Formats: sequence, structure tokens, C-alpha cells
Amino acid sequence: MIIDVKNTIDKIKSEIEQIKSQINYEPKLISLVVEPDESTISYLNSQKKSAKKYGINLEIIESKNLIDDLKKYNEDSSVDGIFVGRPLRKGYTELDVAKNINPLKDVEGVSLYNIGSMFYESEIFVPCTAEAVVKIIEDIEDTEGKNIVIMGRSTTVGKPVAILLQKHGRDATVTVTHTRTKDLKEITKKADILVAAIGKANFVDQTFVKEGTIIIDVGINVINGKIVGDVSKEVSEICNVTPVPGGVGNVTSVILMRNVFKAALN
Ligand SMILES: NC(=O)c1ccc[n+]([C@@H]2O[C@H](COP(=O)([O-])OP(=O)(O)OC[C@H]3O[C@@H](n4cnc5c(N)ncnc54)[C@H](OP(=O)(O)O)[C@@H]3O)[C@@H](O)[C@H]2O)c1
Repeated sequence: MIIDVKNTIDKIKSEIEQIKSQINYEPKLISLVVEPDESTISYLNSQKKSAKKYGINLEIIESKNLIDDLKKYNEDSSVDGIFVGRPLRKGYTELDVAKNINPLKDVEGVSLYNIGSMFYESEIFVPCTAEAVVKIIEDIEDTEGKNIVIMGRSTTVGKPVAILLQKHGRDATVTVTHTRTKDLKEITKKADILVAAIGKANFVDQTFVKEGTIIIDVGINVINGKIVGDVSKEVSEICNVTPVPGGVGNVTSVILMRNVFKAALN
């Protein structure tokens, strides 16, 4: 079966409406991009549509010096949120962004402060995609004591999903796997819930899972001009799988918009 994420999106939309009613201006989001390529431009076009839909004043700026620009907009009181387009170019790293973005304006949840705060109960912003994964899971299944396997250990997806799902109140038993994991299928077959975040098109087939597993497909891969996930289509014959496109990506986009309103409220 295909998991419908509409319910999750509706809940985040109502959070947006609630915050909107507490602020009396259009929040401003700055999207900084360095030498944008076709995929960045296509992503920014969809961000423009979302910003218009939710009433966010979006300014896209092609940055010549990312660190200087981050510092400038960190200080600019007319700016509520800052987004940095990926892939990063000119040798900039994720750590450069993490170290230099103001945590209160960090709507993607990538700053050192926001990453660190995930270990405590004082989160401001958590990485958007990780939050999307957790919200989808929570809307369909109680996570307490569940065996959750995460494929992928990136800073933006795999690791934060693991931290969030282990928190008191969620109480999942989490296993994180990666390219050096031995007997991967033996581990994934034991999962009640499987999160696939590896960036390998159609990698997870029926031999990786037991029947009835809930699968959150985070992957975004382009094959012959079409977007496909990390999970092969036929897996949905025996498991419940989020769609790609139309699953985690859609929830992540709304969370980003909500975070701009949250930043304005902060
Ligand atoms: N839907 C969304 O909103 C959204 C947001 C962000 C990313 N994504 C997509 O999600 C996917 C993952 O993104 P990411 O940024 O986390 O990627 P990433 O930084 O490239 O990390 C990929 C992770 O997967 C692991 N991996 C790769 N091949 C594997 C294999 N054969 N078996 C087990 N583990 C394997 C890697 O292991 P090692 O650490 O050992 O190399 C690494 O930890 C991509 O397709 C990306 O486009 C989607």
C-alpha cells in the first residue's frame, strides 16, 4: 500500500494558520544560492510557489561570498529566516553553514546549536527532512518499543532521524545502517519501520523487508528524467510505503514554510 501523507501535511498547515494569527506581517525568507544549477533553480521555483501560497516574502540572492552573506542576514532584523540552496559550491561545506547561520533564523535546522539541541528537550528547529520523517511515522504508528531501522547516516537525514526517534516519548529501538554495515538485509528484515535515506534509486526491493513493514522512502533520484525513491515500486505490494514524489519531500516543504513563521514568532 501507498501511505498518504495528506493528514500530516494538513496538521502542519494548521500549525501555520495558528502562528499566522499571532503575527501581523508577512515574514521574510532569504534563500542564498551559490552558482545555482538546473536542479537548484527548479527547487527554488517550487519554493517560490510555496512562499506565495503561504504568504511569505521570499528573496532569492545569488551569493558571491556565502559566509559574509550569512553574517549580513543574521544581523538584518528585517529577515526572519535564511535558507541555503544545495548543492553547496565554491568549496563551501555543510560545516561552514552550520557554524555561521544564526540558529534563530536557521529554518532548515542545520546550525550547530540546533543540531546540538536535538539531544535535549529545547529544540528550536530540527533538520526539516528528519522532522518530516518522524511526523509521518508518528501519524501512522505508535513508535514505543518498535524496531526502527534507518538506512543512511547523513547529518541531515539518517543521524537526526535516529536521535529524534530515540527520545523519551517516542521510545523506539533504533538501528542505523550504512555502506559498511554487514548483513544489511538481515537487519532490515527485522524492522517494524524502515527509513530508506541512501540516495540509491530503487535499491530496496522485497528481499530487504518482511511483509507489513512501514517504509519511509526519503530518496530522491532522477532516472531518465523521472524522480524515483530508494525503494522499488513492487515493495508496496507487501509493505506500506510513502510515495516518491509526493511523500517525505512534500511534508519537508511545508515544514520549511512553517519554520519561517516560527522564526518570525521567535
Ligand atoms: N525528501 C526530502 O526532502 C529529502 C531531503 C534530503 C535528502 N533527500 C534524499 O535522500 C537521500 C539521502 O540523502 P542524504 O543527504 O542523507 O545522502 P548522503 O549524505 O549521500 O548519505 C547517504 C547515506 O546512505 C548510506 N548508503 C549509501 N549507499 C548505501 C548502501 N548501499 N547501503 C547502506 N547504506 C548506504 C551512506 O553510507 P556511508 O555513510 O557509509 O557513505 C550514507 O550514510 C538522497 O536521495 C537525497 O536526495 C530527500
